[in-house]
Amino acid sequence: MQTFREKKKPIDKNELYVVTGVSGRTGSAAAHALLKAGKRVRVVVRDDSKGGLWASQGAEVVLADFTDLLALSSALSGGDRAYIISPPQYDSNDLFEQSEVMAHNIAEAVANAQLKKVVALSSIGADKSDGTGWIAMNRTLEKFLGQTGLPVTFLRAAYFMENWSPLVQAATHGELRSFLAPVEQKLPMISTKDIGRMAAAALCEDWYKVRIIELEGPARYSPKDVANSLTQALEKIVVPIALSESAWPEALSNAGFSTVAVNGFVEMTQGLNSGHISFINDAGIDHRTGIVSLDTAIATMVA
Ligand SMILES: NC(=O)c1ccc[n+]([C@@H]2O[C@H](COP(=O)([O-])OP(=O)(O)OC[C@H]3O[C@@H](n4cnc5c(N)ncnc54)[C@H](OP(=O)(O)O)[C@@H]3O)[C@@H](O)[C@H]2O)c1
Repeated sequence: MQTFREKKKPIDKNELYVVTGVSGRTGSAAAHALLKAGKRVRVVVRDDSKGGLWASQGAEVVLADFTDLLALSSALSGGDRAYIISPPQYDSNDLFEQSEVMAHNIAEAVANAQLKKVVALSSIGADKSDGTGWIAMNRTLEKFLGQTGLPVTFLRAAYFMENWSPLVQAATHGELRSFLAPVEQKLPMISTKDIGRMAAAALCEDWYKVRIIELEGPARYSPKDVANSLTQALEKIVVPIALSESAWPEALSNAGFSTVAVNGFVEMTQGLNSGHISFINDAGIDHRTGIVSLDTAIATMVA
């Protein structure tokens, strides 16, 4: 029997890698990894003052806001491969509508530029059509980018270890007030440093059509594990306390979230706690693990 294999094209060393969200967590880690690997990098910022750092490292800097289709199309034009994030506007009551506009613009700009490969940050739970709160915005991005017909990888990342960062200061008083419960329940978490590094690696690969990669850290962790990591980093005992759902709105009152964003957070957190939001566990899905442990991530936050 004759077998046919797709001919692998050699990767062009002069390919241009476009990276969005470089003033944020995963985008900066991805751009650093690509520059370190000697790739030609163009970063997209929306504020001139955030470009200097990248220009000094040899990256080309362009300005674009995801809400501006013309600017975004020009930012991606001439690029070969791109790392895309779609940042939610948590302070707005229209955050879901805004994320749809951004997803539409991103997909249109990617299609206009006819990029060879796109890696887009999505989330654990983006396979579910309801009961996921904020993650519905990641699902929208997957929908629009999937419709371009281009080779797109969706990185379905676990709960960020850095989500604990706003609680570190309060933990110095000896308590970790957790929305995740029960506090012994372990779930997938990952450092944004791992996501950026693994996004850069995925972007350098060859694949066809749409692929999904699930990303988590080197182990599963519970809020109790987070409290233990804090105990170690702060050299002071930190006890995990599960916040009752009725206390969530009050606990979020200084987070700068709109009412609709708070509702989305509540639904997402309920989904995480009940196990509704989880990895697919399908043998056909690429599942990768990072190297940054919770202890390391928490120690970095404390430092
Ligand atoms: N937290 C979690 O547990 C979790 C889990 C899975 C997936 N995610 C996804 O992670 C993504 C966030 O990624 P991240 O943490 O790397 O980002 P981040 O650190 O929150 O930074 C956001 C980046 O987006 C830029 N940005 C914001 N609004 C923009 C706009 N209108 N146009 C162009 N750029 C804009 C920001 O630039 P400025 O500096 O100019 O503001 C910044 O560089 C979200 O899509 C979220 O759904 C989160």
